[in-house]
Amino acid sequence: MKKKQDIPFTFGVNIPDATLDKYDNHIIRTLSSMQGQYFDTESYEAMLLEDDQVLYEVFEIKRPEIAGELLTGLSVVHPGKVGDEFFMTKGHFHTVLETAEVYYCLQGEGYMVMETPEGDWAVEELRPGRVLYVPPRWAHRSVNSSADEDLVTFFVYPGHAGHDYGTIEEQGFRNLVVEKNGRSKIIDNPRWRHQEERK
Ligand code: PA5
Ligand code: NI
Repeated sequence: MKKKQDIPFTFGVNIPDATLDKYDNHIIRTLSSMQGQYFDTESYEAMLLEDDQVLYEVFEIKRPEIAGELLTGLSVVHPGKVGDEFFMTKGHFHTVLETAEVYYCLQGEGYMVMETPEGDWAVEELRPGRVLYVPPRWAHRSVNSSADEDLVTFFVYPGHAGHDYGTIEEQGFRNLVVEKNGRSKIIDNPRWRHQEERK
């Protein structure tokens, strides 16, 4: 008899409401977990005084966090802005840098903002039906650019990848996604300081 974890299993990604019919873990990230990440710190502090609102949620299917396994789940970024900057995830490098990730967009509209430790950067659009391949070494952050709809993506990444949040907390991402004249615009982050340059 196989161990329970080695038996194939299925789960449903419900269409069109873009939800999982089962999951093992539900992570809720609120405004207070994004300290120092939004450019407009005044708006950030003012919003936080009002309400520590939920910015995004992650629904995970649990598997052993080891090489050979794959971790899957849904990421749901709610609509909204801090100042002109759209709601987004914390973003991270994988602790094991040489690990990739695949995102499949199910609902909404937005961007994946990405960069490497070498200073390369890329921003790709996310919309329903698009698959994004994030190669090894690329930090990634999803941004919801819709005024009223959740950005929902299904993700898959290696079990041993791990999350390095600290590097992004310190240096930020090179690009910001803001609203300008009713449209989303990708701009340089004036506060971005590449790791190498800080040394
Ligand atoms: O592993 C991933 O990249 C995703 O599952 C993210 O964890 C998810 O989108 C939430 O983002 P973050 O982990 O940066 O808070
Ligand atoms: Ni990741």
